[in-house]
Amino acid sequence: MIKSISFTNVKGQTGTQEFGKKTLIIGPNGSGKTTRVQTLGIAIEGYAPGNGKTAQDTFKLATGDAMVVGLKTDAFQFTRTFTKNESRDKTGKVKVEINQSLAVSPGRGEKKDTDKKARILSEIGSFPVALDFNEFLSLSDAKRRDFFYSLSPITTDGWSKAKIEEWLRESMLLEEVRENNPEQYQATQDIIEEALQEYPDGFGVSEGLQAMLDWATAQRTIWDSKKKDAQGAVRQIADMKNEMDETDRNISDSKNELDSLQQQLIRVEKLISGSTAKKEIVGKRVQRIGELRGNIAQLKAQPVVTDTAGLEKERADLEQQVLEELDVQVLMAPLKDKISAARSQRAVLDEKHQGLRHQVVSISSTVKTLAESLDTVGELGGRCIIHHMISCNKDFTGLDEFVSKKKTEADKAIATLQEELKQVQTEIATLDEQVKSAELERENILSKAQEVSKKNSEIRKRVGDIDKEVADRRTAAQRRENELKLLEDELNRLVNEPADKIEDVQMLQIQSAGVQAQIDELKQKIQEKEKAKQTILLMQQSMLDNRKAEYKAIAFKSLLEQLGPKGIQGELVKEIIGPLKSDIQQNLQFMGIMNEPFFQTESDTGKEVFQFGWINDRGHQVNFDVLSRGQQALYFAAMMMTIIDRAQPKLKLLVIDNINDCDSKNFQLLLDGISRLEDRVDNIVLSGAIEYEFRADGWLVTDLGPAKSDQFAEEEPFDASA
Ligand SMILES: Nc1ncnc2c1ncn2[C@@H]1O[C@H](COP(=O)(O)OP(=O)(O)OP(=O)(O)O)[C@@H](O)[C@H]1O
Ligand SMILES: [Mg+2]
Repeated sequence: MIKSISFTNVKGQTGTQEFGKKTLIIGPNGSGKTTRVQTLGIAIEGYAPGNGKTAQDTFKLATGDAMVVGLKTDAFQFTRTFTKNESRDKTGKVKVEINQSLAVSPGRGEKKDTDKKARILSEIGSFPVALDFNEFLSLSDAKRRDFFYSLSPITTDGWSKAKIEEWLRESMLLEEVRENNPEQYQATQDIIEEALQEYPDGFGVSEGLQAMLDWATAQRTIWDSKKKDAQGAVRQIADMKNEMDETDRNISDSKNELDSLQQQLIRVEKLISGSTAKKEIVGKRVQRIGELRGNIAQLKAQPVVTDTAGLEKERADLEQQVLEELDVQVLMAPLKDKISAARSQRAVLDEKHQGLRHQVVSISSTVKTLAESLDTVGELGGRCIIHHMISCNKDFTGLDEFVSKKKTEADKAIATLQEELKQVQTEIATLDEQVKSAELERENILSKAQEVSKKNSEIRKRVGDIDKEVADRRTAAQRRENELKLLEDELNRLVNEPADKIEDVQMLQIQSAGVQAQIDELKQKIQEKEKAKQTILLMQQSMLDNRKAEYKAIAFKSLLEQLGPKGIQGELVKEIIGPLKSDIQQNLQFMGIMNEPFFQTESDTGKEVFQFGWINDRGHQVNFDVLSRGQQALYFAAMMMTIIDRAQPKLKLLVIDNINDCDSKNFQLLLDGISRLEDRVDNIVLSGAIEYEFRADGWLVTDLGPAKSDQFAEEEPFDASA
């Protein structure tokens, strides 16, 4: 329980405020009631709730260069000292700094301010409930809601990130959208995923949801403005469609024109080449006519020979000259026999001749051997014939005679044989002669036969030529007639052929060049149009991309709806409000008020609202704003009590400033009602400019007394006419 607070130079005041279990601070306007409530806030939190949280903000309440606030409980006390330090930086500029220092008692060796802050937190806790009641009244619905949620760390078991995801998917990703507008479906799916990434894991549901809402709100603004551009783009697409149609028409017209020009060019080119060909044909015809006339004249000038008598006579003479062919076979037969007979005779003689020569050689060699034996005997001279070292006394005298007799006989026989040989050789020569002459005769017969044959074939050839010539002469007249007719026919045909008209090629060429130039120009034009068409197509594409913005904008609108009070937030609020409502009702009953509270988080038109009040005896919902001030203060106390109950802070303070505008009866009811909460908190502090009598049993009442009117006037000039 807080025993007292002290303040030095807070809003020009210095002093101490004692606190009981229930404290009522009264006094006229400007007497310093709020100053005390604020001092309580600064002491506990380090700043005055509702005035900003920085040291600079807090120091706005200070008079002078130092401000000190202090707080005392049963067993602990501390002070916070704010001092202003002015210094000049290098450039000479004045720099103002507000420093805060802490002193705790009894100390537990805390040296650093952070340690002291931690000590205060452990002794007192932090629960910024000291709120200006008027300020709460002036808050918007949304701010009241935020205040409520920020002070009531109510967790909900029913909701989680996964459930939010499920809710969004079920409510936003509709099958019919997927079928009918897949792009919209995709955009929605994308932003759901992105939105869920804004909800960090580990965040509570209300913070996570808030993060998603903040992100979606910012995104919606962006995409809404993009959507506006996109809507412009859609209009432009319509304009472009017209432009495109025009361009398409243009291109197709130009292409038709190009077609007809190309046809024209082909016609002219054909005429040109046709004329050239025609000229060539005419030239050739003239040449051919000349040739034909020449040939006809030549043919007519030639005499026709038809007489065949001379030829026929020559033919008859030639027939006479034909020789009888030789029968080579018959003529050759006896010669052939003669030669073969001579050859066989010669073979016999050859053999005989061979035998005779053998005999001669054999006899000669016998004689020669005997003569040599005789010579050897003479040379040995009484030595053995087998070995000359051996002496031999054999007598060889008879050998001489034998050898000489034998030699004589041999010579005789050889002479006879030589004679015979000579005769055989003569016979052979005769035979050879006979064969040679027969062969010569054969040669003669052959060449004679050839000669006859050659001569006859020459005659026959000439006869053939004559026959042909005779036949020619017999048909010569007719043939010339035919030939002449052919030539004359051709000549007539050529001469009479109708002459084709030949165009002026030069003119045609000029015409062709002109058409070609037109074609080139048109092609260029078409190319340009095609280019323009491409550009339009590209632009259309980029504009279609812009349509994406439309889908996004729609998706964000829907996302915000689903996240917001009509969606998840609404559900969440319902879940939070339900138990809150029954707690508040209990607190109201505790204070003697039997009315049932109500909360409305959604207006009839579906807008997010945060309205509350109670249902009166006649069953009407009476909004908090139209309750009387006293009723409002009771309701507010019941709400505050609920929050305190839920948050269970270290030090439970129920502080309500500015309980004004109550009549004495209602103020008394309020005092009595709030008194009943006293067991559930450490301190109750009420303050207001109460100017009537009241009963405040058990309350520590601080009456700050009449305001110093001169001081009031001095600071805020009072306009009497107002
Ligand atoms: N920095 C300051 N220096 C001097 N006086 C100040 C300063 N700030 C405020 N005051 C004055 O201090 C006085 C105390 O104001 P405070 O808000 O505490 O009055 P109050 O009792 O709550 O009045 P009310 O009933 O109108 O709410 C006022 O007269 C105010 O003009
Ligand atoms: Mg005040």
